[in-house]
Amino acid sequence: MSEIPQVAHWPAIKMHPRGRSFRDDVSAFIPKDAPGVLDLVAMAPVQPDGLRVDLLGMWERAAPLLATRDNDAHSLQALGIAAALCAALPEADPVVVLPAILLHDIGWSQVPPDEVLAAIAPGGGRPDLVRLHEVEGARLARGILTDVGHDPAAIERIAAIIDGHDSRTHALSIEDAIVKDSDKTWRVTPHGIDVVMEWFGLDRAQTLALCASRVVDHLFTEPGRALARGFIAVNSVTMWPQFTTLAHD
Ligand SMILES: [Fe+2]
Ligand SMILES: [Fe+2]
Repeated sequence: MSEIPQVAHWPAIKMHPRGRSFRDDVSAFIPKDAPGVLDLVAMAPVQPDGLRVDLLGMWERAAPLLATRDNDAHSLQALGIAAALCAALPEADPVVVLPAILLHDIGWSQVPPDEVLAAIAPGGGRPDLVRLHEVEGARLARGILTDVGHDPAAIERIAAIIDGHDSRTHALSIEDAIVKDSDKTWRVTPHGIDVVMEWFGLDRAQTLALCASRVVDHLFTEPGRALARGFIAVNSVTMWPQFTTLAHD
């Protein structure tokens, strides 16, 4: 019996099979550590002091600050994208990248919830609020990172990335580029499309077109562009009538 729980806020994701078509049990072939499969504890990189980055401790402190507008789920999914991009860009330091992406949006907790969507809507209604979530995010991140004993030199680099992750149009470093690309690329994931549909009351096709137009040509890394194109392609095909009308059970 699988221990994986259902995702309460995202019911479209299937966690358990309805049955088994093949006669044999293949579970003995499942490896313990499959390439690319992530675990929040095991994926944590090692700091210069030899200790693992405490991603779990950061998450436990950040989650209450991310509990609106699906920011918590967005941050976890963007963390996964960032880890994939770090694997593709080994010159980047994951001790900087992974905490920066996990904590980048905690500053929204300091913005009145009813003003957040106006701040991020296309057309850029409230740049002052976007700036506020960056500055407050950098401040709160310094506190969390110090609290969990993160590498002091990395803390300043992480704070600098968070302080400008939306408003700054250039990347300070490869680490900054990966954080920006991961944040944006989330919008074209299946989860990102689901969430953005609800923000703006658009259907899936409209949302994919809107997000795709604001992602692919705005990324900094080639692996980020390839990943985003892959997500957009799969989301497109999922809406083709040839796909949606398939008569399989
Ligand atoms: Fe943000
Ligand atoms: Fe974000």
